Amino acid sequence: MLDFNTIEKFDKIATPFYFYNMDLFYKTVDHVAELAERYDINVHYAIKANVERRLLEYISSKGFGADCVSGNEVLHAHSCGFPAEKIVYAGVGKSDREIYDAMKLGIEAFNCESLQEIYVINEMAHINGMKANISVRINPDIDAHTHKYVTTGLYENKFGISNHEFDKLIEFIQKSEHINFIGLHFHIGSQITRVGEVFALECLRVNEIVRYFENQGLLVNNINLGGGLGVDYEDPDENPIADFTTWFKTISENITRRPGQKIHVEPGRSIVAQCASLISRVLFVKSGETKNFLIMDAGMNDLIRPALYGAYHKIENLSASMRQFFPTFQAYDIVGPVCESSDVWGAGRLLPLSVRGDLMEIRSTGAYGQVMASRYNMKDLAPSVFSDRLDEAPVAKDYFENR
Ligand SMILES: Cc1ncc(COP(=O)(O)O)c(C=O)c1O
Repeated sequence: MLDFNTIEKFDKIATPFYFYNMDLFYKTVDHVAELAERYDINVHYAIKANVERRLLEYISSKGFGADCVSGNEVLHAHSCGFPAEKIVYAGVGKSDREIYDAMKLGIEAFNCESLQEIYVINEMAHINGMKANISVRINPDIDAHTHKYVTTGLYENKFGISNHEFDKLIEFIQKSEHINFIGLHFHIGSQITRVGEVFALECLRVNEIVRYFENQGLLVNNINLGGGLGVDYEDPDENPIADFTTWFKTISENITRRPGQKIHVEPGRSIVAQCASLISRVLFVKSGETKNFLIMDAGMNDLIRPALYGAYHKIENLSASMRQFFPTFQAYDIVGPVCESSDVWGAGRLLPLSVRGDLMEIRSTGAYGQVMASRYNMKDLAPSVFSDRLDEAPVAKDYFENR
């Protein structure tokens, strides 16, 4: 919930923009750092969720590692202070160039997603006179009970290696001289809200798989359980910080850990989602036959989650909250300006009576928001504005924005 002073300052800033609540961000990261130490769990932040340099520099300063999924993410993480030996690199389609650059940097591990990828890494390490650390991503075949586009641990999936290939995999690793097997990697999906139940299941399945590999003679020193902790999109004020406590506790109580074995997790969304809002203005209020539309200046080019996954984001009218204490409410279809019918923020949302020029806040947009923005329709990219640097924000220039 934003204070009036901040909302007043927004009036001078060109919309749309991503607003970062830095207090909440620091609080979230510090909380995770404290739990990581308490439960002896290594945290690698999944930088795909948000690559904003300020955030990454703080996260790396807390001793977290980085989970990357492209060569550029690896280089960016490194430039933001993550030491190479704390960077892991997953992804089903790593190019030769990306593999080579990461190998040269000396990253902690390639989280390999197919047998062929392991053959290529072994071959490239051989050619370059190196030895590459690998971890193998396994499909644990677990239903994460989340959206079908963000579930990744089911048997038939493009990610990871399934059990019919285990023996071939183990045989190859044992005879290869240019790869150093350090552990197993899992990630079953994202936005998991049945935390205790789903992650306990994951741990039990992981225990079985780790036991199988160790019985075949491969030491699994690192067990990486992936990310996936969900956040409260419905009520971000009630739950501004995700339930890391239950997550870490569930892992700690259900994973079998022999001495010397390290446990890793890779949260992305849960670290950053609640720390940012997309701030937009109402351009037009349009009364249809049966509906009222609020047409905003932020669209699917700024945040594609609603159009892509039908994702829900809470939306608030900031200007109306300043105008009236007890407003009259009305149902609106809230839409963006992009020439696509899927550019809809929400249908039939109840909001205080809204007028042209009102400032709107789209909540919980810190994860998978700005990183997925595009310049579709040749729109400008929405910049970052930080709560502790509001005076540095780009000033609205044209007459309407600067009323
Ligand atoms: C391998 C891997 N690790 C971690 C994450 C981060 O997941 P989340 O943002 O849900 O925590 C993802 C997300 O897709 C992933 O693919």
